Amino acid sequence: MKDLISPHTRGESIYIDDIPEPVNLLHAAVFASSIPHGKIISLDITKAENSEGVCKVLTAKDIPGENQIGRLIQDEELLAEKEVDFIGQPIAVVLAETKEQAKQAIKQIKIEYEELPAVFDSREAARKGLLISSSRTLTIGDIESTWGKCATVIEGIAESGGQEHVYLETQASLAIPDENGRIIIYSSTQAPTTVQGTTSKILGCDMNLIEVDVKRLGGAFGGKEDQATQWAAICALGVYHTDRPVKLILSRREDILMTGKRHPYSTDYKIGLDEEGKILAFSAEFYQNSGAAADLSTAVLGRTLFHATNAYYIPNVRVTGYPCKTNIVPFTAFRGFGGPQGMFVIECAIAHASEVTGIPVSVLQENNLLQDGNQFHYGQQVENCNAKRSFSQVVKETNFEQRKEEIEDFNTNNRFTKKGISIMPICFGISFTSSFLNQAGALVNVYKDGSVSISTGAIEMGQGVNIKIRQIAAKTLSIKPERIRIESTSTSRVINTSPTAASTGTDLNGKAVEIACNKIIDRLKNAVAEKLGTNAISIEDEYVYQDGKRTEISWKKLVNLAYLQRVNLSAQAFYATPRIHFDTKKEKGRPFAYHAYGTAVTEVTVDCLRGTYTIDKVQMVHDAGKSLNYLVDLGQAEGGLIQGIGWMTVEELVFKKGINYTDSLSTYKIPNLYFTPKIEVTFLEDAENPEAVLKSKAIGEPPFMYGIGTYFALKNAARAFREDKEWEYSSPLTPEKLLLYLHDLE
Ligand code: MTE
Ligand code: HPA
Ligand code: MOS
Repeated sequence: MKDLISPHTRGESIYIDDIPEPVNLLHAAVFASSIPHGKIISLDITKAENSEGVCKVLTAKDIPGENQIGRLIQDEELLAEKEVDFIGQPIAVVLAETKEQAKQAIKQIKIEYEELPAVFDSREAARKGLLISSSRTLTIGDIESTWGKCATVIEGIAESGGQEHVYLETQASLAIPDENGRIIIYSSTQAPTTVQGTTSKILGCDMNLIEVDVKRLGGAFGGKEDQATQWAAICALGVYHTDRPVKLILSRREDILMTGKRHPYSTDYKIGLDEEGKILAFSAEFYQNSGAAADLSTAVLGRTLFHATNAYYIPNVRVTGYPCKTNIVPFTAFRGFGGPQGMFVIECAIAHASEVTGIPVSVLQENNLLQDGNQFHYGQQVENCNAKRSFSQVVKETNFEQRKEEIEDFNTNNRFTKKGISIMPICFGISFTSSFLNQAGALVNVYKDGSVSISTGAIEMGQGVNIKIRQIAAKTLSIKPERIRIESTSTSRVINTSPTAASTGTDLNGKAVEIACNKIIDRLKNAVAEKLGTNAISIEDEYVYQDGKRTEISWKKLVNLAYLQRVNLSAQAFYATPRIHFDTKKEKGRPFAYHAYGTAVTEVTVDCLRGTYTIDKVQMVHDAGKSLNYLVDLGQAEGGLIQGIGWMTVEELVFKKGINYTDSLSTYKIPNLYFTPKIEVTFLEDAENPEAVLKSKAIGEPPFMYGIGTYFALKNAARAFREDKEWEYSSPLTPEKLLLYLHDLE
């Protein structure tokens, strides 16, 4: 039997654009705004309609339902009607016989705008009162009365840039007419139910007339949690009007121009410490550049506030977030979901405090790490905390103090080449911060030949959720994984699914699968107990055991026996994460099922004449609970790290007056193999997690944040060259920016 992974390596795995094209297929192309803000005075589509091969041109007028795609806040149109708010905003869609004809016809559309003033900077937007929704503050202790008690109080500004997802498969969708107005959508989405719900709203029909089916994605990283929806809805709208299948695949350039990215942030921080370096108080005001519509911005901002103290216990905290409305493509979910932006700031504050107090960063970090019994500023108790364990283990494994001394020696003896080392602890909350989303369903079917078919709400996007679910089912049913097939994710088989996001894919769906499998095992045991006349039945390694002794009844025989006894071999199950709750009025609760911890040590070398650098080595001790699959988890740890390093170093989005000048992979640089450091991953031992399926721990997002360590290792190297010059806490730290720091070139 072919397994789940080898089709990838053979290039046989099917993505949306590989689905054999149905007869009568129409290709869609999107006409988008070329100005950042303005009124649409006139829109003339007649020439485009008469262009060769064109079947129809869709505008806002063609939307039979509600022209609205906003999920958290209803503030975004599918197709702009009267006003445009960003460059790249869809206004019209051409449906044509070929892709080329559709793209040609786009050029025939005539539009007139009345330009309006535009805002691109988050602080400017905040000053003008342009917020997506009201600001939000989390607080604990009494910050104001604490500053006076501190030996050191430091203030500063930290900036972090956006990030393009660069999933290999661009946004893609294919919609096919069924009968009686029903539509089947194949979408490259993390959120089939969102696609289903929004499409039904656009078309003004019931959700049961829309089926969304997803086999796998060629990467998503949060970029398809909300922003895959519009392309699917556009295709469905095309089907509605033409009764023909419609396909839309964005080119890389269109994808970069028309879809959201990680939110850039600008933050004011203030940190207060006692003489020994205990952090007594921390406050921050986060100005999130939300873009032109809410998308997931408010939820992302929430996670920034939750993770604003990273892995540290701080008794007095006040953190405020402003979701600032600007005329840039709406920013969206990206691995870490605002957490990295929050954690970057506290690390800047600590690095800054180290410079002022002279206490080494690593000492400040270690002395303030979380431990059991502490409380987070949002009210949750710290439980099963592995912050100190992972920190001290990585310090030991890397011989940190010795390496630091060696690096100091190296820097003394080398004038133009400097090395730097840093430590980066992480703490990341696992669960959707919107508690209601923490639910999942599963459908487990056992065919009468003993083969098994499983459907869940989980989306496979390369993170290995399918293989983990298969392992969970194999273990629970005591059969070989080869007997189990993981089906595509269909809104007709498992309903009301949450996006596969917040690193919860396996936690939620895997648990539902475990429950469903146990239901089937119970039924099978009952069936065989009846036949053998005993209750001392167990199933192990594909055989029935009676009183601890193996019988002749194999899994196949067992299933057939149950079938003949008319036993239900199909089980549905539901899982809702227990113990979580959050009161958004009080801003207190227990939002996370648990936290993921770990620490990384990073070493870099900077060429101080050129500003170029190499990331030499990253060693991490990561808490993956009881790992379900070592190789998958290793892949997530390494991949997340590299993506985080990219965000901190070479990935720079350049927007000028709302125009994205980094709209291709020649202008937007991502880490490649040569840039990748030597990576050593150690998973923390004896780290069984009582809060997740089979004692595992979510790993999709947390390792991303180790990338922040690279920024500080580079900073340390640069400071060894220029001790005299003040450091600006601004990322990404591109070689260009570093060069400008190292030399007074401006
Ligand atoms: N890994 C791969 N290969 N591709 C992806 O798109 N997305 C990340 C992470 N790892 C992603 C990935 C993000 S943003 C999340 S939230 C999790 O996977 C989602 O999957 P999980 O919940 O199953 O971990
Ligand atoms: N993480 C990811 N996606 C989400 C979340 C979250 O916490 N909340 C809503 N969507
Ligand atoms: Mo991940 S940003 O929660 O899709």
